[in-house]
Amino acid sequence: MRILVTGGAGFIGSHLVRRLVLQGGHEIVNLDALKYSGNRANLTDLEGHPRHHFVHGDIADQPLVERLLKEHRIGGVINVAAETHVDRSILDPGSFARTDVVGTGVLLEESRRSGVERFLQVSTDEVYGSVDSGMSTEEDRLAPRSPYSASKAGGDLLTLSYWTTFRFPVMVTRGSNTYGPNQYPEKFIPLFVTNAIDDQPLPLYGDGRQRRDWLAVEDHCSAIEQVFLRGEPGQVYNVGGGNERENIVVAEQLLAYLEKPKSLIRLVEDRPGHDRRYAVDCSKLRRIGWHPTVSFDAGLQKTVEWYRKHESWWRPIKSGEFRQYYEEQYRRRLEQGTRCGS
Ligand code: DAU
Repeated sequence: MRILVTGGAGFIGSHLVRRLVLQGGHEIVNLDALKYSGNRANLTDLEGHPRHHFVHGDIADQPLVERLLKEHRIGGVINVAAETHVDRSILDPGSFARTDVVGTGVLLEESRRSGVERFLQVSTDEVYGSVDSGMSTEEDRLAPRSPYSASKAGGDLLTLSYWTTFRFPVMVTRGSNTYGPNQYPEKFIPLFVTNAIDDQPLPLYGDGRQRRDWLAVEDHCSAIEQVFLRGEPGQVYNVGGGNERENIVVAEQLLAYLEKPKSLIRLVEDRPGHDRRYAVDCSKLRRIGWHPTVSFDAGLQKTVEWYRKHESWWRPIKSGEFRQYYEEQYRRRLEQGTRCGS
């Protein structure tokens, strides 16, 4: 079956495409709009590979999607393409609704019309909203609280409606906080690691006691593959790493790996509407044979090493469009921030 993966030049997308092409032996058409976080450098090892066909384009471009599905006789679709950063969704909510809801809608409708046999929507555990205690199960009510998670919830529910209404065989995964090599350095772990390498302050929001469940990118990709191949149509599957940590603990741990002082941490003004905690129950996914394989300590250490050895990957990113974003998001926060413990 030829598979269309969207967003395959991004962080999770590029790891997924590599896995499907090299380990799974699948033929992949990779559609990516190459917006700010999409990066051909994430795929250099797949350039010219006979089972990898890269197409530069947007999932919201209906004529393009229609043509691609037909021309390549696509049998399965995995939609990874998305606007993904919560802080950017607070600065510019419109682009999130466009890609994560409208783009998903275009992809779904064209896939249904062209007779695609399996469609997987990569969603997020953030659709459940902040969870004070316990674990979210797939049956829980969705309560997204940021423009990002609300847009993802829109795409997620739209996908499920295609099963209810059309019996179009869709599946949804709701993954937790993913980390690893090639993650755009706007996200918590790569931002903190690269700032620390440069002895720059680490802007920790609020009291730093928010909790996230960290999932290694290879475990997230194996979960997506497992659901795509063995998941039941119309079903949702939570994906979590089982590594719940407070942000401040993660910050201190990565500083220790880099042998940098804790004094680099700055407590800064919180993210508006900041979700305190996410946690997902993954027993449904385990029942179809998936389990995470990477311990957080080993995964974080490997990730830190990767950023240490791949400055040529992240330095050009941090000096480009990113710099303007960083100014807007952090300059005032850092000016007013306080050192941890002071
Ligand atoms: O849970 C899955 C989600 O995880 C994905 O759907 C999102 O695409 C992904 O961005 C991530 O969302 P978060 O908002 O949890 O990730 P982020 O890396 O932005 O932040 C992780 C935590 O670290 C969060 O509590 C906010 C905090 N943080 C983040 C940044 C960027 C800081 O304290 N300072 C920062 O500068």
